[in-house]
Amino acid sequence: MKRREFLAATGSAVGFGLVGGMGFAAVGKAQTFDLKLQRCDFRLRKEMTPDLVSLAPNAPPPVLKARQGEQVVLNVKNALEEYTAMHWHGLRIPNDMDGVPYLTQYPIAQGETFRYSFIPPDAGTYWYHPHCMTMTQMARGLTGVLVIQEIEDPGFDTEQVINLRDFRLDDEDHLLPPYSLRRAARAGTLGNVMTANWLIEPVYNHQSGSLVRLRIVNTDTTRIQRVYLEGGMSKSIAWDGHPLRIPMPAPNKNTPLVMGPGQRVDLAIVMPKSEGQSITVFSRLASNDRVMATLVSEGTNLNRSLDELKPLAPNPVVVPDISSAEIHEFVFGWSPAGVAPKDGFCGSLGKTFWSINRVPWAGDAASGIGPLARLDLGKSYILRFRNESPNTHPIHLHGLAFIPLRSNKRKLLANWSDTMLLLKDEIVDVALVADNLGDWAFHCHIIEHQKTGLAGYIQVV
Ligand code: C2O
Ligand code: CU
Repeated sequence: MKRREFLAATGSAVGFGLVGGMGFAAVGKAQTFDLKLQRCDFRLRKEMTPDLVSLAPNAPPPVLKARQGEQVVLNVKNALEEYTAMHWHGLRIPNDMDGVPYLTQYPIAQGETFRYSFIPPDAGTYWYHPHCMTMTQMARGLTGVLVIQEIEDPGFDTEQVINLRDFRLDDEDHLLPPYSLRRAARAGTLGNVMTANWLIEPVYNHQSGSLVRLRIVNTDTTRIQRVYLEGGMSKSIAWDGHPLRIPMPAPNKNTPLVMGPGQRVDLAIVMPKSEGQSITVFSRLASNDRVMATLVSEGTNLNRSLDELKPLAPNPVVVPDISSAEIHEFVFGWSPAGVAPKDGFCGSLGKTFWSINRVPWAGDAASGIGPLARLDLGKSYILRFRNESPNTHPIHLHGLAFIPLRSNKRKLLANWSDTMLLLKDEIVDVALVADNLGDWAFHCHIIEHQKTGLAGYIQVV
């Protein structure tokens, strides 16, 4: 029996890190986080918004910091009445720590704790979100940033994390339904309140002339962000977690960075030299561009310069051998509206609109569903992504990192990634080495698309 069938069949919390109760001793010198999924109230706009979900009492999900190459333990306790499972987006860790219900673990029930324990091989900007009840729990706020610090200090004075995400609120600042079926069958449902770190236009002070590492993360369920900066000096240094292989200009008003849900960018910035000046992070919109966050200089001038920074050390990702790579093609498109995916305890939108290779995902808890592709451990592959729909899809692969090779529509930069934003009618080739064993979820990161068929998995054997 394959593992996901075993997990689906047993129907109980066996092994795979599930433990009861709480209070854990640190394993060796592992860094340990005790995290509790809980309801929370927070002032996102004017009034209190009740019924949000976080890992902290009445505060946004915390920025978690761990170290490259060092053991980290995350005890995720579920204090909600519904099931959950936590996924660490972008981390190349063992499959059984990947947090995908029925594929890599059984969903975590109310009162249970799942112990996630792994050694992050790569430094950079990653994030976490539930992979069970994904639509509702993410829409209620549960998306947080996971920073993996480099072995060698890259020499910044401070860091600033900007977690971009929308909420859907009514006039009383209560949550609206997170999606509509009509929109799920199209581009997805946008929020109506855009936030950074759960705040509207937050202002952060950093010392004048200091070097700041800005980590911008798009954790939205739907919105494709077009981000740019104004003021100060800046430089892009990492994309989707990994240090750049190919230089990317710092984003400006005319050439914003296009970031699909799930994507990250790291920027090195120098704060303006005199007090009270600012650097503004904008989101480009069809109408008026929106201020997402502002960094304001304070105190005496540290007078640092971008030239003082050495390039970040590359992560230990193996570059694929394209000459020997076998090609696997994946077609992303519509499907006839069909039966609801069988999602077990993990929530369904009740409909199917999307498919990969013309087959809609039968649901997280469906049994007997094979992988979309089977890859041999250690071999190089080209994955060909073919978008047969007029909508944009951020296609995400768990557990592996790939390099974009080419597109029929534009020039791509060959920087490591785990999420490829596919444009309307676009065909993109990406290359990877299948160097991580297991069943790796593969889906659109517009959650409405994921939950209505645009999902599957790739197996590395
Ligand atoms: Cu960020 Cu399968 O997800
Ligand atoms: Cu999609």
